[in-house]
Amino acid sequence: MVAKNKEDVNGLKVIGEICGAIRDELVHCTKPGITTKELDEIAGELFEKAGAQSAPKGEYNFPGYTCISINKEVAHGVPKRKRTIQEGDLVNIDVSGSKNGYFADTGISFVVGEGEATLQKICDVAKEAFDAGLKKAKPGSNKSAIGKAVHHVAKQNGLTVIKNLTGHGIGRSIHEEPTHIFNYFTRWDDEILKDGMVIAFEPMISTLEEEVFQSEDGWTCLTDKSFVAQYEHTVILTKEGPIIITL
Ligand code: CO
Ligand code: CO
Repeated sequence: MVAKNKEDVNGLKVIGEICGAIRDELVHCTKPGITTKELDEIAGELFEKAGAQSAPKGEYNFPGYTCISINKEVAHGVPKRKRTIQEGDLVNIDVSGSKNGYFADTGISFVVGEGEATLQKICDVAKEAFDAGLKKAKPGSNKSAIGKAVHHVAKQNGLTVIKNLTGHGIGRSIHEEPTHIFNYFTRWDDEILKDGMVIAFEPMISTLEEEVFQSEDGWTCLTDKSFVAQYEHTVILTKEGPIIITL
């Protein structure tokens, strides 16, 4: 959506704050021994307390309030009773929801306790790519400059990006125009960013592969032999600078 007035900005900020707080609480609770289902149930309670709805559940009938992906799972991981978090796991928690007709989406990858150095590195580079991409996300600029910056940061660090998962417009629904914010430069993508445009910007940094595939459960996106880190916030682009609503 394009946020046009104070009401839009405030509505987005309300759901942004809720999703950001749920993400932080889940990260805090992610300790060896807890199951992904238990984490997801915490999110369910927090959504209810906040008077907000989970977007994956409400919009896609996803079997969970949040997406929790571990190790070779990259995105849209289904919370499970039998999936127990272990020391050194690479975990991604993605929280999206709505309240009063406004949507927000945020996610983070992190390592549980002590893990392999590579895993921490991709998490750090995902954040760095987010910051670099956000600098290019200005009204009047070309949308493709964002992906160019993300890919550049990845390459500088000897890493690459996922090409078949992207960021997206958001606001009045979970996925809307612009349909794709790519993690790499696409010459044919000549869309110009607008003042007030709301995007879910989510760089995905990979150790090797550039594409994910879908698992047999119909939801989870996986890689064969790579690790991937994502860092996502919902951002309102304005002439005065970006407003990150999910901090
Ligand atoms: Co997300
Ligand atoms: Co998203």
